[in-house]
Amino acid sequence: MSKDISQVLYSAEELAQRVEALGKEISEYYKKEHINSLLVVSVLRGSVIFFSDLIRHIDDLDLEFDFITISSYGSSAETCGKADILNDVAEKVAGRHVLIVEDIIDTGITMAAVVERFLAKGVKSLKLCTLLDKPVRRKVQNLKIDFCGFEVPDQFIVGYGLDYAGRYRQLPYIGVLEPSVYKK
Ligand code: IMP
Ligand code: MG
Repeated sequence: MSKDISQVLYSAEELAQRVEALGKEISEYYKKEHINSLLVVSVLRGSVIFFSDLIRHIDDLDLEFDFITISSYGSSAETCGKADILNDVAEKVAGRHVLIVEDIIDTGITMAAVVERFLAKGVKSLKLCTLLDKPVRRKVQNLKIDFCGFEVPDQFIVGYGLDYAGRYRQLPYIGVLEPSVYKK
């Protein structure tokens, strides 16, 4: 374990199990709705590891994927309250069923901006999937999360794609970052 991690919240094995179950839940939902074509959009960069594991557990769907890059953090541990779109999706999204995949929803500002953007483009349906949800920090009302891996407490967490100042994304587990790392 990295010396900068004070506690492991989810081991690689726990993540794999939960992600597989989420993939099944998503497949069943779309099957039930008789939707068989889906565009899955990964919010870069944090969701990329979760996303690549998740989509391999979504079966029986004609699936395409795409990416959008959002920057809301800079290099601090606090959101700056504004989400900038650095790179938009390449695919046409109008008239399509879209599932957004995010790493963590904290204040909700990033997700609200993404949702607004996709709705404005005239998607046929829009669902949100996040690996982690930190509900106590929410600042945006009425953000409906359709698929969620785990609810987490108000701590700064890293690993499995999540970073602090660009680091720790490669950790195979999710852990709490030792506060002395970002408070110095
Ligand atoms: P929001 O706009 O405040 O909901 O922030 C969402 C974005 O902030 C996420 O996509 C993450 O990239 C980042 N973020 C929020 N909380 C954490 C955390 O605990 N660790 C790492 N990144 C985080
Ligand atoms: Mg993110």
